[in-house]
Amino acid sequence: MEGIDFKVVFNVDNKLFFDALMIRKNVFVDEQNVDITEEIDDYDDKAYHVVGYLLAEPICCARIYIDVNKCYWGRVAVIKKYRKKKVGNKLIEFLKEYSKKELSASEVIIEAQLHSIDFYKNNGFEIIDEEIKVISNIEHKTMKLVL
Ligand SMILES: CC(C)(COP(=O)(O)OP(=O)(O)OC[C@H]1O[C@@H](n2cnc3c(N)ncnc32)[C@H](O)[C@@H]1OP(=O)(O)O)[C@@H](O)C(=O)NCCC(=O)NCCS
Repeated sequence: MEGIDFKVVFNVDNKLFFDALMIRKNVFVDEQNVDITEEIDDYDDKAYHVVGYLLAEPICCARIYIDVNKCYWGRVAVIKKYRKKKVGNKLIEFLKEYSKKELSASEVIIEAQLHSIDFYKNNGFEIIDEEIKVISNIEHKTMKLVL
């Protein structure tokens, strides 16, 4: 799919964060039954929020934050009707570029839902801990990407 316009803002006092939140609510709260009180957390306040727009429609999102000099990605989501069209791959490409060039990150950590591990492997991540972590009732493994 051509023409996704990626935008980034820092923290929550802006319209883009609400576009991200709308996607996160659809995907994580409504589809995956994550409690809304867990979906929004303290990291939102210190995160770079990324939204991909197709024309004016917000279709995918993620957040990036730095904690103790480590770069973390999370809340990676593509709205359902745009999945399996390589939007996720394009989002990851944007996150790589932004994290490396704008945030000087050399590696990225992600807590990957088990069903999405192959998606992240396709995009260069490797599992760094085989232990399954249950976060918001969803099973995850920790993965790392060298940028
Ligand atoms: C995971 C997610 C972001 C992938 O987005 P997408 O736009 O459907 O992915 P793409 O179309 O870019 O697929 C890229 C590749 O990953 C593969 N892939 C996509 N989703 C996959 C999945 N759930 N499991 C295994 N492989 C997957 C595709 O087959 C494709 O492989 P290819 O490049 O070899 O053809 C999307 O399914 C999603 O938003 N899921 C719900 C939210 C979620 O679980 N996020 C992950 C949180 S850790």
